[in-house]
Amino acid sequence: MQFDRHRRLRWTPGMRDLWRENRLSIETLMYPLFAVHGSGVREPISSMPGVEHLSVDELRREAVELAELGVRSILLFGIPAHKDERSSEAYDERGIVQQAIRAVKEEVPEMVVATDVCLCQYNPAGHCGIVRNGVILNDETLPLLAQTALSHAAAGADLVAPSDMMDGRVKMIRSALDERGFEHVPVMSYAVKYASAFYGPFREAADSAPQFGDRRSHQMDPANRREAIREARSDLDEGADVIMVKPAMAYMDIIRDLRERFDVPVAAYQVSGEYSMIKAAGLRGWIDERAVVLESLLGLRRAGADLIITYFAKDVARWLREER
Ligand code: PBG
Ligand code: ZN
Repeated sequence: MQFDRHRRLRWTPGMRDLWRENRLSIETLMYPLFAVHGSGVREPISSMPGVEHLSVDELRREAVELAELGVRSILLFGIPAHKDERSSEAYDERGIVQQAIRAVKEEVPEMVVATDVCLCQYNPAGHCGIVRNGVILNDETLPLLAQTALSHAAAGADLVAPSDMMDGRVKMIRSALDERGFEHVPVMSYAVKYASAFYGPFREAADSAPQFGDRRSHQMDPANRREAIREARSDLDEGADVIMVKPAMAYMDIIRDLRERFDVPVAAYQVSGEYSMIKAAGLRGWIDERAVVLESLLGLRRAGADLIITYFAKDVARWLREER
């Protein structure tokens, strides 16, 4: 009988391990955290079971715990004390993110602290830029984004990640950083960010839902693939060091496209809605949460993601430890 015997390489765990093409490791997972004002605050986020709002003192404790578990990088988001038209807390040196950066770097200096750079949590309209007459203004928003990134770098951030999707923001941020002595701080651009319904739980968590309209004038149309290449190319031309695709699981073709097209690290963000779906089904016993999470992350790795940003990073750290 003449046919291929694929099963020859699959008989035992040891055999399968030998030929495994992709692996998950905790060093390449980044864990998002939400910082809030106050002290002793550890407030669960109802649409994201297992994720909490943390005050800065709690963040210190969390950073230590994460480091012990092997989580080496975090992505910080902030919930400000007040919102105004100029999004002023976004770039206030006493702002929540700036405080959080200093605290984490003081507690665990080796933790790679990345920050989300955007304005939508910080203004009452809940938009990623300055709004006038119902329009999100591109060029007038850029200086505020640059100022925000700069204030994060000044507070000690290792990496800034603009998520606003305004045109030209990477260039503005890069030159602001360079001018002020932060030429060593990389920019991880949310280069290909789709206008997605998967951000729903995050907007509750960050209190950043748009109060009118939507984000389709700046975030990408989920139908488009070629446009993703154009977005990534301009961000690289403007000086981005890492390009990100977001969300992840519904956009794995795009991760693969960028991986094959560009020789820079590609990040994938498994966003809040992806987390909550898996979590909800897991909590009901409809799926095996641990197996599904590990499979989903391995799939992103296989698609070509170098770095994966995921709310499951802490759980994965525990699971990978147990497997050893
Ligand atoms: C802010 C921002 C969003 C996310 C990351 N940064 C929300 C949005 O663009 O509406 C989404 C993260 C998630 O859903 O986990 N611009
Ligand atoms: Zn935003």
